[in-house]
Amino acid sequence: MKKRYYVTTIIASLLINMNSVSAEELTRQAIATKAVGQFGQEMRNKLVESLKKNGPSGAIDICAKDAPIISSRIEHEYGVVIKRTSLKVRNPQNAPDSLEKELLESLSALLNSGKTLPSGVVAFPNNQQRFYKTVQMEMACLQCHGDPKIINERVRKEITAVYPDDMAIGYKEGELRGIISITVK
Ligand code: HEC
Repeated sequence: MKKRYYVTTIIASLLINMNSVSAEELTRQAIATKAVGQFGQEMRNKLVESLKKNGPSGAIDICAKDAPIISSRIEHEYGVVIKRTSLKVRNPQNAPDSLEKELLESLSALLNSGKTLPSGVVAFPNNQQRFYKTVQMEMACLQCHGDPKIINERVRKEITAVYPDDMAIGYKEGELRGIISITVK
């Protein structure tokens, strides 16, 4: 009787411990989810609006100039660091760190083997502070990231003028473009 009580107490305290760890992680994940949701929404709205108004050439500024402005405001608001990264970057400043690179490689292997990618905001493997959301190529993105043959001549020139080492072209719809990487402080 006594022994069973003892075992139950240990299990209960383990559960309480586990809960407190995961509660913290859940809170961080919720913050990361909110931040990335807002970032994605604002970027999308700007991009769609600008593509409609000025075509792809005018929209380059959204990806290049507005993205950092939007993300630094959200970073400040939520206490997070937001980064857009990829195995094939357009801007070398967006290059992945070692954890991001490892993750991107396994995500792309997963997708290539016909599996679906994790959806929503997910924790990095064995990490409680870093989260990510996968970014896949959509139709609208191809005007600037697709087959160079279909990219408007003027847009291509503008892109290469600013990003001489651009690697972010030749994508097809559905391919893994990269991740939004969020660190919750
Ligand atoms: C009008 C052209 C244009 C369109 C359309 C566009 N992008 Fe970009 N994209 C750019 C430019 C320019 C950069 C470089 C931004 C920078 O300097 O950080 C970029 C950078 C990125 C990056 C950061 C990593 C890197 O390569 O530097 C990601 C991720 C990305 N784009 C995803 C997308 C997705 C997803 C879409 C469609 C929803 C999209 N882009 C549509 C022009 C575009």
